[in-house]
Parts: sequence; structure tokens; C-alpha cells
Amino acid sequence: MSSLLLRILLVSNLQVISALFIVTPEKMKYTARYGDMVKLICNFPVTNNFEESKLKASWEYINPSSGQQVEILRLNNGKIELLDVERTSEGRIAMSLSELKNGHAVLEITNVTLTDAGNYRCVLQLEGADYGTITLDVQASYKNIRNYTAISSDGNDIYLTCQALGFPEAEVFWKNNDIDMCFPPNTSHKLTAEGFYNTSSIIKCRKDSIQNLKCQFWNKALNETTEAVFRFEEKKTNLTIPNNIAIIIGIVFTIMAAVVLVIYLKRKRFCKCFRKKGDRTLTL
Ligand SMILES: *[C@@H]1O[C@H](CO)[C@@H](O)[C@H](O)[C@H]1NC(C)=O
Ligand SMILES: *[C@@H]1O[C@H](CO)[C@@H](O)[C@H](O)[C@H]1NC(C)=O
Ligand SMILES: *[C@@H]1O[C@H](CO)[C@@H](O)[C@H](O)[C@H]1NC(C)=O
Ligand SMILES: *[C@@H]1O[C@H](CO)[C@@H](O)[C@H](O)[C@H]1NC(C)=O
Ligand SMILES: *[C@@H]1O[C@H](CO)[C@@H](O)[C@H](O)[C@H]1NC(C)=O
Repeated sequence: MSSLLLRILLVSNLQVISALFIVTPEKMKYTARYGDMVKLICNFPVTNNFEESKLKASWEYINPSSGQQVEILRLNNGKIELLDVERTSEGRIAMSLSELKNGHAVLEITNVTLTDAGNYRCVLQLEGADYGTITLDVQASYKNIRNYTAISSDGNDIYLTCQALGFPEAEVFWKNNDIDMCFPPNTSHKLTAEGFYNTSSIIKCRKDSIQNLKCQFWNKALNETTEAVFRFEEKKTNLTIPNNIAIIIGIVFTIMAAVVLVIYLKRKRFCKCFRKKGDRTLTL
């Protein structure tokens, strides 16, 4: 059942047939970013009396490392059959039928993931039969850098860590006003199940030497640099002082208000007593 069309093609004499019917990929290689939408296009010759129901088409995925081939979907009698459940179940991969009459077989991939990277083969049969192969490269930016610090057990050194996900491997650079006060950084790259490189870089510096330190991830394939800037404790303590002042001012005002109220009440009572006594003496 699998790759039926390809078997038909191999049985028939491809050399002779393909002289009449030639499939040409629009591009040999497509490059997409993680999350993008990409259209892989194979062009084929059509005549004015083209009938969609007469076209047989199939898209296959070829794993670049194992060479394993999987038929993703097939067009037969104008209907699309989804064959690779794993790849098509999320609805991200589909074949567009609208461009067939113009001689374009289009495989649309939305929300591209790193595991979509590899080779795709379009197999087409109309007046004759032929196929084309397209390579899809996927890259991912090292955004959302996690940055955190830890103090060494003796309290003299500080460890700074930056970690991010991306593809392909990034180089990590550390920039400081005085980088000589730091030991060389250690950077590791671990491949995740989703195909990202989990890149983590740690640097150890003298605690009192650093003011303006940042880590930069350079994705060479994208020629893209992303960075995180470390902010240090001094600024935090500066920020807390106005808060303390506000609290102190608040307390002082409350105490003053209480004192004023007490004085006012006492004086009021004293005046009343005095006046009452005076009244009494007058009436007598
Ligand atoms: C693509 O991803 C976006 C956001 O993550 C999501 O809203 C959308 O449903 C996804 N589309 C498909 C076809 O998976
Ligand atoms: C990446 O590696 C760090 C430790 O190096 C780990 O804490 C984190 O969970 C990893 N993230 C993923 C998505 O694998
Ligand atoms: C980096 O690794 C080397 C050797 O494993 C080690 O001596 C050094 O202390 C490490 N540096 C940091 C900042 O962890
Ligand atoms: C990479 O980007 C930098 C600026 O961001 C630019 O100066 C440089 O020419 C670019 N290199 C390539 C090979 O595109
Ligand atoms: C991490 O980097 C971000 C962005 O550069 C910065 O706003 C934040 O203060 C940094 N965190 C630490 C702990 O320095």
C-alpha cells in the first residue's frame, strides 16, 4: 500500500515517460523559521483541457539522517487521502488544490517545527509520471534567554548563567567592562526531543569586578544575535530606599495628626468647663 505511486513509476520505464512529462521543483531548498508557514511547490505541465480527477499526486517525507521514507498524503480521483497520521493529524500539513490547474502541486506546512526539516518528494502522474525532491531547512531564534546568578560558597565569586533554545547551534559570547576579571565560560549544547539545541553557558567572575555584564547568543545560520543584560543588587537597594522614606513619612504624619487631635480635644473640654463656671457666677 505504501508509496504505491512510486512503485508504479519504478515499474514503468521512467526514462522514456519523463521525456514527455517533467516535474520541476520551484526551489530545490526552502528555509523557514520555527513557527512560519511554508509552501513547497512542484511545477508540472498542464494543457487547456486539464482534469483534476486524472491527476495522481503524492508527497513523501524522507528523513535526512535515517533515509526513511514516509508517504504523507496522496491525491487520487480529486480526493486527498492522509496517510501519515503522525504528521497530518494536527492539520498543519495539507495539499492545496487551488493551484493544480496552473500546474503547481503545493504542500502547505503551517507552524513549522524543527522535526519538519528534511527532504520532501512530490510524485505526479498525468500524461506521464515524474517526481521532484525539495529540501526544507528549519531554523529557530535564541529568544527568551533565561539569565540567573549564584554566589560562590566563599562569597568572593559570582556565577552567571544564560540558557536558551534555538537551532542550529549558537556561539555564546560574554561581554563585560573588564572581562579579564572572569574565568573562561563553559558552554554546552543539548539536543531536545523537539529538535532544539538547549544551550547553556556559565561564567565565573570576581564579585566586585562586574558592573555591566551581558551574554550574547549568535545564531550563525540566521546571522542573528540575541542578548540578556544582567542587573545587579546595588540598583535593587537604591530602589528600596524611597519606599522606606515613604513609610517613615507616613508614620510621622500619623503621629503628628494624633498629637494635634489630642491637644484639640483637651483644649475644647477645658474651655467648656471654664465657660460653664463663668456662666454660673454671672447668673448668681
Ligand atoms: C499555529 O500556532 C498558533 C499559535 O501557537 C495556533 O493558534 C494555531 O492554531 C496553530 N495552527 C495550526 C494549524 O496548528
Ligand atoms: C535546558 O537545560 C536546562 C539546564 O541546562 C534545564 O533546566 C531546562 O529545563 C532545559 N530546557 C528544556 C526545554 O529542555
Ligand atoms: C568550566 O569547566 C572547567 C573544566 O571542567 C572548570 O575547571 C571550570 O571551573 C568551569 N568554569 C565554570 C565557570 O564553571
Ligand atoms: C551579519 O549581520 C551583521 C549586522 O547585524 C552585518 O554587519 C553582517 O554583514 C552580516 N553578515 C552576513 C554574512 O550577512
Ligand atoms: C536578565 O536579562 C533581562 C533582559 O536583558 C534583564 O531585564 C534582567 O534584569 C536580567 N536578570 C538578571 C537576574 O540580571
